[in-house]
Amino acid sequence: MAFPAQRPRRLRTTPAMRRLVAETDLAPRHMVLPMFVREGATEPIPISSMPGVVQHTRESLRKAAVEAVEAGIGGLMLFGVPEVRDARGTGGVDPNGVLNVALRDVKAEIGDATVLIADTCLDEFTDHGHCGVLDERGRVDNDATLAVYAEMGVAQAAAGADLLGPSGMMDGQVGVLREALDGAGHEDTGILAYTAKYASAFYGPFRDAVESQLQGDRKTYQQDNANLREALRELALDLEEGADMVMVKPAMAYLDVLRSVADVADVPVAAYQVSGEYAMIEAAAANGWIDRERAVVETVTGIRRAGADVVVTYWAVEIAARLGER
Ligand code: PBG
Repeated sequence: MAFPAQRPRRLRTTPAMRRLVAETDLAPRHMVLPMFVREGATEPIPISSMPGVVQHTRESLRKAAVEAVEAGIGGLMLFGVPEVRDARGTGGVDPNGVLNVALRDVKAEIGDATVLIADTCLDEFTDHGHCGVLDERGRVDNDATLAVYAEMGVAQAAAGADLLGPSGMMDGQVGVLREALDGAGHEDTGILAYTAKYASAFYGPFRDAVESQLQGDRKTYQQDNANLREALRELALDLEEGADMVMVKPAMAYLDVLRSVADVADVPVAAYQVSGEYAMIEAAAANGWIDRERAVVETVTGIRRAGADVVVTYWAVEIAARLGER
C-alpha cells in the first residue's frame, strides 16, 4: 500500500506541538470588556439574560475596573443606564450624567493602565430608545442627532475617555466627532468607529441590560445583514472621516464581513461579540448542552482568526485571567 506522503496529523500529536504551531492566540491585551453602570444603584444588579454580567454601582464599577486592569485586558467600554430619560437624551450630554460620572470615576481609579472607551450613543438616554433624536414625523433625524453626538463626545473626552465609540450608525458621525474633539482641544482622544454595525437580533440581552425603551427596530440606521459591500463603503467613509480604529458588530454571524474589512483596513480592526452571542453560550452551557470554556475560547479565537486585532467581549476578564492560555 502507498503511505500518505503528507501527514498533517504530525503537527497535532501533542499539546506542546499544537501550541508551537498555533497561528492565533488570545492575549489579555486583545480583550475589551463592556461594562454597565446604573445611576442610583446601591447594589450591583444582575442582568437576567446575561448571567454573570451586572449593572454596576459607581463603587462596584471602580472595583471591577481595577480587577480588569489586574487581568491585563486591553480596554474597558462603558455604558450608562440613567434614572431619567427624555426625548433628546440630555443625560448623555450632561457632565453629571451617569456615564460621564462613571468615566471620571474609572479614569481617576485606573489612570492610563488600560484604554477607557465611552459608548457615544443616545439610545440609553432617550425615552423612545432610538440612537438619535426624532423629527416631527417620528423618524430618526440624522443631522440633528449629529449635533447632540458632538456635544456628547466632547463631554466624554473631558470626563476622561481615551476613545469614543459612536455606535449609533448616523451618517457623518465620525467626521462630526473628530471636528468637535479637535475644536475643544481633545485632539488626542481617538475614535473607534462602529464601521459595520448590523441590525441584529443578537442585541436582545443588551437591551435588557440598559433597560431599553425601544419599540420597533433600528433598520433605518443599522445595516441590513444581507449586505457585505455596504460595509466596505462604510469603511471607506469612516477612514475618510478620521476613524482611528474600526469595528464590525456583531461578530459570529459576520465573520466574512470582519475578514473583508481586515483585509483592506489600514487601521486596527475590532469586533464586538455581542450580548446575544454571550447569552447563547451561557444558556446552552447552563443546560449542560455545551462545554462552556471550550466554546468561549473557540468563538473568540475564531473572531481573532477572522481578522480582529481587538475583541470586545463580556468574557474579556475571564479569558485574560485563565482561558486564553494555549
Ligand atoms: C447602542 C448599542 C447597542 C449595543 C451596543 N451599543 C444596542 C443596539 O444597537 O441596539 C449592543 C451590544 C450588545 O448586544 O452586546 N448604543
